[in-house]
Amino acid sequence: MHAVVLAHEVDWQGFRAAVRKLAVAGVAPEHVVWSVREADDLFAQDPPPEAVGGFVLPRNLVSLAETVIQARDPSRFALLYRLIWRAHRGERHVLERITDPDVDRARRLAQSIRRDTHKMRAFVRFRVVRDGGLTRHVAWFEPQHFIVESNAGFFIRRFAGMKWSILTPYRSAHWDGQELCFTEGARPSDVPDDDQLAEYWRVYFASIFNPARLKVGAMQSEMPRKYWKNLPEAAAIPELVAGAAARTQAMIEQPRLSDPLPSGRRRVVAPRANSAWGQAVQDAKGCRRCEIHRHATQIVFGEGPLDAAIMLIGEQPGDHEDIAGKPFVGPAGQLLDQALAEAGLDRAALYVTNAVKHFKYVSRGRRRLHARPDAGEIQACRWWLDIERAEIAPRMTVLLGASAGEAVLGRKVEVLRERGVAMNLADGLAVLTVHPSFLLRLPDEAARRREYAAFVADLRLVARLAGPISAGKEN
Ligand code: URA
Repeated sequence: MHAVVLAHEVDWQGFRAAVRKLAVAGVAPEHVVWSVREADDLFAQDPPPEAVGGFVLPRNLVSLAETVIQARDPSRFALLYRLIWRAHRGERHVLERITDPDVDRARRLAQSIRRDTHKMRAFVRFRVVRDGGLTRHVAWFEPQHFIVESNAGFFIRRFAGMKWSILTPYRSAHWDGQELCFTEGARPSDVPDDDQLAEYWRVYFASIFNPARLKVGAMQSEMPRKYWKNLPEAAAIPELVAGAAARTQAMIEQPRLSDPLPSGRRRVVAPRANSAWGQAVQDAKGCRRCEIHRHATQIVFGEGPLDAAIMLIGEQPGDHEDIAGKPFVGPAGQLLDQALAEAGLDRAALYVTNAVKHFKYVSRGRRRLHARPDAGEIQACRWWLDIERAEIAPRMTVLLGASAGEAVLGRKVEVLRERGVAMNLADGLAVLTVHPSFLLRLPDEAARRREYAAFVADLRLVARLAGPISAGKEN
């Protein structure tokens, strides 16, 4: 009998080396006992025999094994070695036997790990810890499988500017901006309690929560209860759910763009379920039309009712939007929301998107600084903007800044000279105005006040022009 003791739960290097030696030496799976070294393991391992001869495995089996080794299942090493043994002994297409119990088990484990990975990427919530002059972000997460190691790279890329620790019961990952390291598991009490960032997530969740679309079952399957205790925004769920019916009623009663047509007919508010549109949204996730996608976390597609009468087009997602996957949720978005409200426009009734759908930035140390998309990138992304404009077919398009102007008008624009007047497009009206980030960059308070008022005035014009056309597209 051969005993293999791996260094830790996802010791892929150790597993691979042992498998190679065992298989090449002809040691059958039933003669191998696998385990993982305990911190205080005193037993010396019986090393596998030395490898002789060649050892080549099918690529799909290697990739399945790399995933399945993360399963929280002590029998996974033996399972994988059985499959590898069979492939090594001539069953090269072993994974195609989908009814085979070992193949089926391995595939199910891989699927469960992928699901767990998705949950970890969606539900890790950092809290700010201030240690002397240093700021660190710490998160507690309880994965089902051993997935911290394989996901650390994702969090490094996504939170490029942060120093963070992700603590889990079995292992903790730490990124100091330069180096990644792993330490022992931790306890929930190792993460400090409440803070600003938790508050941010609560406000964010409350703002994206749509009571009219509440489906408690679907919500729980997307955000399972077991994660709630670590999600600051989950504290808001019971209250939001309890108030959903009343808020929906209030939304229905509120006068808005979807109010009765002059003829007394009601505009159709529900999104027109359209499979071509659904397919486009799906396809956009894999967009490689220009190089920007390489460094962005995800595509940020437009958002809002598909029958919106007004479409707002910004430039491109920023740092916050890149993380949240939604347009205009960061500082520029907050300013935009405020200005829209002052102009009497309800953001929930508008379709909001960007000329360019991936975040383009330059790294400065740990910060990701916005970089303006060039004409080629705007042109490449017009593919998606055209699909959105064809689907939404807005009566009024608001162009926020030069990139949006260029994308829709097909020429360079001078925003400060051309702003605030209605332009006739082939398919509706457009108003060009400044981008909210322009207001955020203004150096002094007086200029900010003046320009903000001008911005609101432009949006009021949009609201006025949208008035007579706000009765909907069936008009
Ligand atoms: N700036 C934009 O142009 N779009 C966003 O979504 C956010 C900031």
